[in-house]
Amino acid sequence: MEAFNYHQGELYCEECRVDDILKEVGSPVFIYSKKSYVERLAAIREAFDVVDPLICFSVKSCPNLHLLRVLHEQGAGMDVVSGGELYRALSAGSPASNIVFAGVGKSRLELEMAIEAKPFLINVESEQELERLYEICLAREESISVGIRVNLDVADPNTPEKTATGGRTSKFGVPLFGVVELFKKYRDRKFINLTALHVHLGSPITSALPYLQAIGKLDSLVGEIRSQGCSIQVLDIGGGFPTEPDSSANRKNLAVLAKEICSRIKPLTESGIRIVIEPGRSVSADSGILVSRVEYIKQGWDKKIIVLDAGMNVLIRPTLYGSKHFIWPSIFQDFSGPWTEVAKLNGDTNSEQPDPVDIVGPICESGDFLALNYRCELPPEGGYMAVFSSGAYGMSMASQYNSRPRPAEVLVDGGTFKVIRRREAYEDLVKHEIDDTDIP
Ligand code: LLP
Repeated sequence: MEAFNYHQGELYCEECRVDDILKEVGSPVFIYSKKSYVERLAAIREAFDVVDPLICFSVKSCPNLHLLRVLHEQGAGMDVVSGGELYRALSAGSPASNIVFAGVGKSRLELEMAIEAKPFLINVESEQELERLYEICLAREESISVGIRVNLDVADPNTPEKTATGGRTSKFGVPLFGVVELFKKYRDRKFINLTALHVHLGSPITSALPYLQAIGKLDSLVGEIRSQGCSIQVLDIGGGFPTEPDSSANRKNLAVLAKEICSRIKPLTESGIRIVIEPGRSVSADSGILVSRVEYIKQGWDKKIIVLDAGMNVLIRPTLYGSKHFIWPSIFQDFSGPWTEVAKLNGDTNSEQPDPVDIVGPICESGDFLALNYRCELPPEGGYMAVFSSGAYGMSMASQYNSRPRPAEVLVDGGTFKVIRRREAYEDLVKHEIDDTDIP
């Protein structure tokens, strides 16, 4: 059974009625399934089993402490990209030895914090960052394991432009042509244990091909680096793995993708290299939904407009990337499934389908929508719509724009649920601001 499903005309997360959650917690709300988190992490572990990677969950996709704790308990490490994410990962109990720290703009303070924590790897993205790291290590007389994020000029044409990170125009990493020199230069530096290569091609990467191209290039790079007397012990191939709402289809897809990747990587592991992967979306996206109340259904010039209580302030992905989320009009209206069939209804131009509608939020911008020209039945006014596959980059990118407090987050475990982030209040909106009356 799926983590999110309709039984007898009612939406459930595991064994909890979504309506019960709404009655207690209100709207909008992100609802996550623990079972799905555990199963989707397991699917990744199983898929990559033959190369026994260190799996570091990409915290940015869904950084709630409770969820990080769930994943840590299941044996996952953490991929962090800021001091704040490092703080979260450590607070969730993740040992530093299971943390990898990436990011193109790490500040001196963030690097110092990392050196103090001693993560499995700090992946630097420029010679300048490496030099800064070296200076700090020298001053503190502390050693650190370092990887270089390489820009291999490998891009997946199907990845949205804004989230493609592997191409030559991207700001990420050190261009391939400069990497060997960097290894030579830092080979004998004290305190800098430069032994890893890191790539992250984009999010999502929809086929194995870009990974295979990248690994091919890395393979030659490893040979060149080793021939200079430098050692490579770790290859971090990043995240970007795709995800499917249907958990068994998801498991199968991951297995097929990973099989191709692993067969290309296996010879490298046999030469003593440890593999790191950094899945985010493939664990979190389909483990969460957003539920939002229908405030109004109004008639526009050409179509009906459904106004929800959540928009780009809560889920910015449709606005920012044109992402398509499957949205179902009610928590009290069964769909017969299976998922793949239901999802196809969206955007179907068949005239028997319901007329297209715009599903928008309350924010004062025309770009504030969750879906445009979306074919679905009209929801009941005052009812709730369910926005699926919202567990990744939903809450982590939510804002207080228009001074709307951020929504609550709820974690379901079987028949019970708990609030894992309370809904923000108006006081939260102003609590860091300095009111003139407070200044002496
Ligand atoms: N590792 C690194 C270094 C990354 O930058 C990312 C994502 C990941 C791993 C995880 O990628 P994933 O497995 O989640 O695809 N906000 C965008 C996605 C941006 C991803 C940024 N980096 C979205 O909502 O689609």
